[in-house]
Amino acid sequence: GRFQERTASSVEAFSESVSFDRRLAPYDVQGSMAHARMLAKCGIITKQEGRNIVRGLETIAREIEAGRFRFDPALEDVHMNIEARLTRLIGPAGGKLHTARSRNDQVALDMRLYLRDVLAGVREGILRLKAALLDLAEAYVDVVMPGYTHMRRAQPVLFAHHLLAYVEMLKRDEERMSGCRGRVNVLPLGSGALSGTGFPIDRAYVADLLGFEGISQNSLDAVSDRDFAVEFAAAASLIMMHLSRLAEEMILWSGTEFGFLTLPEAYCTGSSMMPQKRNPDVLELLRGKTGRVYGALVSLLTMLKAQPLSYNRDLQEDKEPIFDAADTVLASLAVLAELMSGITISDEQKARMRAAAEADFSLATELADYLALKGVPFRKAHETAGRIVRHCEERGKTFSDLDLATLRKFSGSFHADVLKGLSVDRALRTRNLPGGTSPTNVKRMIRKEKKRCADS
Ligand code: ARG
Repeated sequence: GRFQERTASSVEAFSESVSFDRRLAPYDVQGSMAHARMLAKCGIITKQEGRNIVRGLETIAREIEAGRFRFDPALEDVHMNIEARLTRLIGPAGGKLHTARSRNDQVALDMRLYLRDVLAGVREGILRLKAALLDLAEAYVDVVMPGYTHMRRAQPVLFAHHLLAYVEMLKRDEERMSGCRGRVNVLPLGSGALSGTGFPIDRAYVADLLGFEGISQNSLDAVSDRDFAVEFAAAASLIMMHLSRLAEEMILWSGTEFGFLTLPEAYCTGSSMMPQKRNPDVLELLRGKTGRVYGALVSLLTMLKAQPLSYNRDLQEDKEPIFDAADTVLASLAVLAELMSGITISDEQKARMRAAAEADFSLATELADYLALKGVPFRKAHETAGRIVRHCEERGKTFSDLDLATLRKFSGSFHADVLKGLSVDRALRTRNLPGGTSPTNVKRMIRKEKKRCADS
């Protein structure tokens, strides 16, 4: 009514969002149904109008579900498309649906409903990956490998202990996503364009219909807040960072340089030129896709920075990064869970891992600890063990070539028990404190986490 000139076609193309926000359509319908029911219950529209609107929206929901709904870019966004279709279906009463509502609180609602679904999927994805890691840890619970610092062999650890490190990361990811859910699951509807509405609506009733745990407390904030989207992107970024670290290790360990394990063939790809290749493309893509999700986080933060209250059209730019981050994290969790379930370790690979765990003087800490337990100050013990390593290196020997007499030249605190104590299995066994790599502790953790998975 206000305009005399037609919108320029460049502006239509520039500002339309229906090409991407159409994926909000089911949530838009869901939100509108609850809004219409509430309007009828509160006597703002008649019961008959309410019923007609809901029935029209049900038809639209079926059209969307079947892929039969026709989105028209000239109608700008998903909200206008659905409202226009409703009016075509039920007549002028369709125009009453938007009473006491603005697209500003409507789009905030749709994004929250959408993300709530995504969060449920992410939770499921994390659970499945955790289960795959725990199964693998259980199947190979006796496998010993070198633990690394600075990418150099440091001390022996159980392969299962290494996998359990990722289970811990995923547990934190779960917590972050569940914290995010609490802040997503708040109803913004009723905030109107920015200041609320003069109609006697019942927000608590709408919240109840849609399963929200609370209603927003400030209309200006509710239409301009996208913190929940940033939080999701941040939590998703951390998940991707964790997955990329695991992917990187699986790439390394499955190659001949390490030769620790074998990836399932169905999750590897060949080369178009080199017939012998079996490439870990899935893991590389996981690593690569991390960048898209970090990108989403930075896009959202930058889009929000310095925006004055309340709604501004900038906010429309929240959608593509969020959709892409959600698609990426969901697909990544799913494919990695499948891949991890298919990993195998042959007897030959186990032997190679054990040999690597023993090599490079990985038991030097045990030697220092031995002296420290006999009362030698640890700094002194550390230096003595270092001198023994140098002695061996210069003569091309390993610890197992040493006899007691030689050791006693380095320290009078060495006794006969030192030699039998210098073994990988003993080094593992003694680390039997909470968080340590002892077989007892690792088995306990596998049991505990498996039970937690089963209970949730
Ligand atoms: N497509 C818009 C968005 O995603 C919907 C809200 C439009 N509101 C407005 N005042 N133009 O943000």
